[in-house]
Amino acid sequence: MTTPDQSMTQEMRDAQGRVLVFDSGMGGLTVAREICQMAPALKVDYAADTGFFPYGDKSDEALRARLPDVAEALVREAQPDVFVIACNTASTLALDEVRARLDIPVVGTVPAIKPAASLTRTGVIGLLATPGTIRRAYTAKLIEDFASEITVILHGSVELVRLAEAFAAGEAYDGGGFTAALAPIFDAKDGGDVDTIVLACTHFPLVRAQLAAAAPDGVTFIDSGAAIARQTLRVLEGAAPQPRTGEAGGRLYITDEGGDHGRLVKVCGRFGFDRVCPPVLLPAKR
Ligand code: DGL
Repeated sequence: MTTPDQSMTQEMRDAQGRVLVFDSGMGGLTVAREICQMAPALKVDYAADTGFFPYGDKSDEALRARLPDVAEALVREAQPDVFVIACNTASTLALDEVRARLDIPVVGTVPAIKPAASLTRTGVIGLLATPGTIRRAYTAKLIEDFASEITVILHGSVELVRLAEAFAAGEAYDGGGFTAALAPIFDAKDGGDVDTIVLACTHFPLVRAQLAAAAPDGVTFIDSGAAIARQTLRVLEGAAPQPRTGEAGGRLYITDEGGDHGRLVKVCGRFGFDRVCPPVLLPAKR
């Protein structure tokens, strides 16, 4: 979404400083893209937790144990002014823990339930996310706070995360996967009335057009990308960053070695993150 935005000041558009955008894989690129478009002078780097991808099917304990450690290691390496967790699965579980560990501001990503609730005309919305995000207390609280008057049909899919990555890389993919990912929402009780679907996984905007084509006409898909980008710029404005390093942006960090990262490197390069850095590895935990 790049429509003129009244809530953006010129200072926000001219923002300086360095931002590290983080996700399990390439989903966070949909957030990084919004940040780069809104504030072209920012130095933006990208980190994918390749050593633990995908997050959506990991246990809460495993993710909670990993996230502060991986965030700390990446921030030590990249030296950003703001750390953006461009991942719903991680933010809805461990945003506070990551904040507690870092000494810089952290911006999280949470499902766009509030805007969807004000957008729907039928009073029935879908929430498409990873299984992790679907089962979170955080998500239940968002629904309670902002969507208690409407019907929310939830569905979690890790398959769609993998499909989005394959699609983004231009590889062969199963087009039926989009219909399959949406079916549990539209086939549910009241599913025929769904007019708005929240893409509550940052991977899913990569395949927004494919999902829209697989959905009935008139269904609107919304995500949090632009809102996170605006929040990042607001936080930067308050942080008044001092240049920590003169290095350009466009760096790509991964968190394992020896894996095949060809697909990730290719897609990240297309989004402007073409300076692949040595892997940031975590010491093994006992
Ligand atoms: N992109 C992530 C999200 O927003 C998670 C995808 C995954 O690793 O399962 O939830």
